[in-house]
Amino acid sequence: MKIDKRDWIFIAMVVVVLGIFVWISGKEKTTTVPRDAMHQVSYDAAFKNAPGPDASIFKRAFFKPDKKGAEVYCEPCHREKEVPFPPNHPPKNRCLFCHKLKK
Ligand code: HEC
Ligand code: HEC
Repeated sequence: MKIDKRDWIFIAMVVVVLGIFVWISGKEKTTTVPRDAMHQVSYDAAFKNAPGPDASIFKRAFFKPDKKGAEVYCEPCHREKEVPFPPNHPPKNRCLFCHKLKK
């Protein structure tokens, strides 16, 4: 296959788009969910179906934590413990879209 000038422009565009993508995703700064005893219940809920270390590589690669299952605990406990939300906190349904779980 011959790569002509139009192809190179296309390739350059793909590279630029990918570059912007990587750049944006590196900007994530929202605080992560602390990995402490307090938050263990959320981690347990998220990873309750996690494949074990000897499961196949595909099972591990495609595993998604049960975020909805973990989120049910967030707000009630934060309310009970009176953890303050910053005054201009965005809408709070789906905590884990913004506050990532630690690995
Ligand atoms: C749309 C995105 C978004 C969602 C959804 C969201 N948050 Fe936040 N949260 C933020 C941002 C942005 C901040 C302020 C900046 C930061 O903490 O990095 C913040 C701050 C916080 C803080 C204070 C952190 C600190 O360092 O003082 C807590 C606690 C918190 N959020 C808990 C929650 C809980 C619990 C939920 C779900 C009920 C939730 N958030 C849902 C974006 C979000
Ligand atoms: C059993 C109680 C409990 C549950 C469940 C819980 N939290 Fe928290 N969370 C706390 C308390 C207490 C603090 C403040 C002290 C601390 O950092 O541990 C806190 C602090 C935080 C902070 C701020 C951390 C920081 O560095 O300032 C974030 C973000 C947060 N929680 C998010 C979440 C999210 C998202 C969930 C659900 C997936 C969740 N929490 C579930 C009790 C809880």
